[in-house]
Amino acid sequence: MPFDLKLKDKVAIVTGGSLGLGAESARQMAGEGTKLVLVSRKEDPLEPICDELTKAFCSDLLPIYADLTDPAVPDAIAKQALDKFGRIDILANCAGAAQGGIFWEIPDKVWDDAFALKFFGTVRMMRAVIPAMRQQKYGRIVTIVGDTGKQPNPRLLPGSSSNAALLAVTKGLADEVGADGISVNAVNPGPTKTGRITTLFDNLSRDTGKSLAEIEADFTKDSPFKTMGDPVDVARIVVFLCSDAASNITGTSILTDGGRSRTLA
Ligand SMILES: NC(=O)c1ccc[n+]([C@@H]2O[C@H](COP(=O)([O-])OP(=O)(O)OC[C@H]3O[C@@H](n4cnc5c(N)ncnc54)[C@H](OP(=O)(O)O)[C@@H]3O)[C@@H](O)[C@H]2O)c1
Repeated sequence: MPFDLKLKDKVAIVTGGSLGLGAESARQMAGEGTKLVLVSRKEDPLEPICDELTKAFCSDLLPIYADLTDPAVPDAIAKQALDKFGRIDILANCAGAAQGGIFWEIPDKVWDDAFALKFFGTVRMMRAVIPAMRQQKYGRIVTIVGDTGKQPNPRLLPGSSSNAALLAVTKGLADEVGADGISVNAVNPGPTKTGRITTLFDNLSRDTGKSLAEIEADFTKDSPFKTMGDPVDVARIVVFLCSDAASNITGTSILTDGGRSRTLA
């Protein structure tokens, strides 16, 4: 008998749900019958995703247009999710947009931005949903972190540093909330084909004078596959960690980098 992931009618908040890894995670969850709260700032990419998922899966959806760098936003998102659906089972933190560069040329603002969105936005979202999850005695929190959290990239240090900090939160928070039936895990993708990585490669090409092909080759040279990842590779792991197939997994991260990282598994 096929394994039931038990995601039907669960309620998931997916930040960064309009594009890239968040949109693909939402698509995979919608396919499992999950009710979705999708968060991004701009209507343009979020609206078409909502239309697509409603048509394809009759998904019950709540789009929220909000900026996660605003400290008041995470509590407001949790409230709107509870008002509409009455519970929050899953939080998938997929929003992030850190920029890179050469260390001594990176201004403070780039560091501030990397932490404001990915680190503080994620921490505040976790804090906003945990009270409801504790009451339910059930919750799944998954954060898309990145392989640079364990193997920092010298040209991506703001993002690498906020990723490392989020891995610490993932491990420690899992201890704090495990007794309430809440798991906390992370996914660490390597370079994966999304709009964000295209922008990053464009900027690195501009800053270093290398061609885009050279930049891509730099990012994939340590991978046995020598290829970039596909968003669906990451999204399926997000779905797995949110499902009952992962009911004995917490406080850890799963690497999906085509074998690129030079660490023992
Ligand atoms: N792609 C990769 O190779 C890769 C590898 C490792 C880790 N990651 C991590 O995975 C996460 C997602 O990356 P991605 O490649 O999917 O990026 P993406 O395609 O650029 O999507 C980013 C999403 O975040 C939303 N977002 C950005 N700033 C926001 C803000 N201030 N408030 C609310 N939402 C915001 C965007 O929508 P709006 O712009 O409309 O707000 C969009 O939905 C990031 O944390 C990234 O570090 C990606």
